[in-house]
Amino acid sequence: MSGSNARKSIIYEFDEWMIRETEFDIKTNFRDETVFTTGNGYMGMRGNFEEGYSGPADTTFNATYINGFYEEYDIVYPEGGYGFPRKGQAMLNVADAKIIIPFIDGERFDLLTGRIHAYERKLDMKRGILVRRITWESPSGKIVEAEIKRLVHFDRPHLAAVSFSLKPVNFDGFFEFVSRIDGRVSNLDESSDFRVGSGLKGRALFTVDKGVDGTGAWLEQRTERSGFFLSCAVEHDLVPGGDAVITGHQAEEELEIRFRVKAHKGVTCNLFKYISYFTSRDAGREDLVLLARREVSKAKEDGFAQLEAEQETFLEDFWKDADMVIEGDPAAQQGIRFSMFSLLQSAGRDGKTNVAAKGLTGEGYGGHYFWDSEIYMLPFFIYTRPDIAKALLMHRYRLLDAARERAGELGHRGALYPWRTIDGPECSAFFPAGTAQYHINADIVYAIKRYVEATGDEEFLYGYGAEIAFETARFWVDLGSYIPAKGGKFCINCVTGPDEYTALVDNNAYTNHMAKMNLEFAAKIADRMKRERPGDYRKLSQKINLQDEEVDEWRRAAENMYLPYSEELGIVPQDDGFLYKKRITVDMIPEKDFPLLLHWHYLNIYRHQICKQPDVLLLMFLLREKFTIEEIRRNYHYYEPVTTHDSSLSPPVFAALAAELGYHGEAYRYFIWSCRMDLDDYNGNTKDGIHAAAMGGAWLAAVYGFGGLRVYPDGLYFFPALPEKWRCLKFTLKYRGRRLRVMLEREKVFYTLEEGEPIKIRHFGSELLLKPGITVEGEIRRAGL
Ligand code: BGC
Repeated sequence: MSGSNARKSIIYEFDEWMIRETEFDIKTNFRDETVFTTGNGYMGMRGNFEEGYSGPADTTFNATYINGFYEEYDIVYPEGGYGFPRKGQAMLNVADAKIIIPFIDGERFDLLTGRIHAYERKLDMKRGILVRRITWESPSGKIVEAEIKRLVHFDRPHLAAVSFSLKPVNFDGFFEFVSRIDGRVSNLDESSDFRVGSGLKGRALFTVDKGVDGTGAWLEQRTERSGFFLSCAVEHDLVPGGDAVITGHQAEEELEIRFRVKAHKGVTCNLFKYISYFTSRDAGREDLVLLARREVSKAKEDGFAQLEAEQETFLEDFWKDADMVIEGDPAAQQGIRFSMFSLLQSAGRDGKTNVAAKGLTGEGYGGHYFWDSEIYMLPFFIYTRPDIAKALLMHRYRLLDAARERAGELGHRGALYPWRTIDGPECSAFFPAGTAQYHINADIVYAIKRYVEATGDEEFLYGYGAEIAFETARFWVDLGSYIPAKGGKFCINCVTGPDEYTALVDNNAYTNHMAKMNLEFAAKIADRMKRERPGDYRKLSQKINLQDEEVDEWRRAAENMYLPYSEELGIVPQDDGFLYKKRITVDMIPEKDFPLLLHWHYLNIYRHQICKQPDVLLLMFLLREKFTIEEIRRNYHYYEPVTTHDSSLSPPVFAALAAELGYHGEAYRYFIWSCRMDLDDYNGNTKDGIHAAAMGGAWLAAVYGFGGLRVYPDGLYFFPALPEKWRCLKFTLKYRGRRLRVMLEREKVFYTLEEGEPIKIRHFGSELLLKPGITVEGEIRRAGL
């Protein structure tokens, strides 16, 4: 095992359903704000304190994000080039509405003054709520017990709510709660790490309207360039609040409501704040304020307790379909639940948004969507919440026109999806590891294929998926050529595969194999659609002007695809040039040089056999049926020593393959690394946001690696084996209208069909018939593989 992968020390204590801290430390505050983010796929609020933070500016970043709500900026190249993207998009930090600053007889509640007697903060993944409990003594000796709860509602995407309660322990006096919406927000614009921050400088949102009305307030803002509007409204409820004096204040970009109330020793006083955001990506500009105000009035009427109950019900359903139970290993249990919960908190569900590489938790990668979604995260949703998987794929369909435009701009037919984007255009300024990663096209088609295979959703396939498959197939045929010196094979030259430490190469194995899959799938769907849905096929071919000869051309290119193979080494070379480069193994590189991209010039990286992340091995994982276990073993031993894992996308693939190869210890370590990447801050950059792909990858590693799942066209196959430490692994899969529960013990596996029609599965090659409600057993025969 290589890379900077030593087991990290524990940051948050192990707990199966909670992420919990019992001390407040400003040195780790920035990072903790990421981990304690609450979100619902529409919006995300970093775990900033409601009462604010008077520590040094570089130990905090206060932010609320709305998925897909962005501003444009110019990408400036001192030396540009044709086809370089000119405009970037960055997800915006929006008006801050979570602010509640309590004053206790005039003294500001501030964890950096006075004394903290007791402190606890926990993210409860069963209830979907962030809770802080603090006993605090003010500088003048007044002690209060505070309980602050925050939720971002899963079923009411535009709604968040805060409950701030204070109880005087040793005094009678006055509380004043100052609640605000602050419109003077901006994104982070300085970082020593070029993976963080965006091209945005200074403010991007400007206030156009605002108001305070009794216990409510609202703010309307607009962006300058993307032309979007946003409304933010709040409502409050103070309990008990009979004698409260309530005053509203307006400043240029800030709205404030103050609640002054008598404080009685031993009596809790609770301020509830309801917060809503709408943007012009959701509704017409003229309705935005009204919609947000309506949302908070309704929430106030329903009350915080009801919202809490709804949140719990939503999560009960979610965990019923998605939960994974790991017995005997609380670290792994917590890691995998945090991964799944974070994916849920990050994934857009409206068909207009996707999952940003850092979810809705931080400034890394500008809120952009990458192939991370399709290859690493989508499987989790496909097999647990197919409705979310569909919404994510619909987002890709929505970007198809932009992808057609991009292909045209680069002189190609068909469609080329952007390497990184929010709303369609390519936003990557570094083409060797951006535009050149053409494999994104095939990754999307791979995800469509997997989704349709698992759901049987033909309406999606014929209505949307087919068009993406056809346009991308067109693109491949146009991009590649039949090269005489390569035996007349179809070659795809000058591309970058998944491994970003090897760029602009000919015949990247991953790309060629995946393009072949893309072409074959498109041709197959075209044939089937012609036969089964002639009307739809005619309509679609007319729309995109598709000729029969083109489909023949897809088949020809697929059949003749050049697939690199080294007879001498018995491995798949990453590309035509890879084996001719100097090989350096990770253990030859000083620890201080990782990640290489921050310490070595790309040219020095590119001229070596050194990988940031798996490329050939990922291919083998994705197209498992094309390779034998011995091939995988040989390639694993070839590539593992040269893989730095400088990308968080790397360890989960190694975990899955090591598990299949029977390298249990190694598989386990790679798995823990993947599922605890952020909880243990492996890469030291959790502060910039979670690593959502690693989280999806952790699920893949558990289900495909330890669960031994293979999904082949004729159904589900299982080759399970538990890591040594675990007593039991349980997970659930939705497959073609069924819900299947798998329970793995050391010697035995139990399969239960919880919902749906009987189904045959294969367990180590033998067929098992599952009938509803009946558990079928299988022996584990995998040791020593
Ligand atoms: C990885 C890419 C990934 C991107 C966003 C990079 O470090 O090399 O594969 O798509 O991060 O997560």
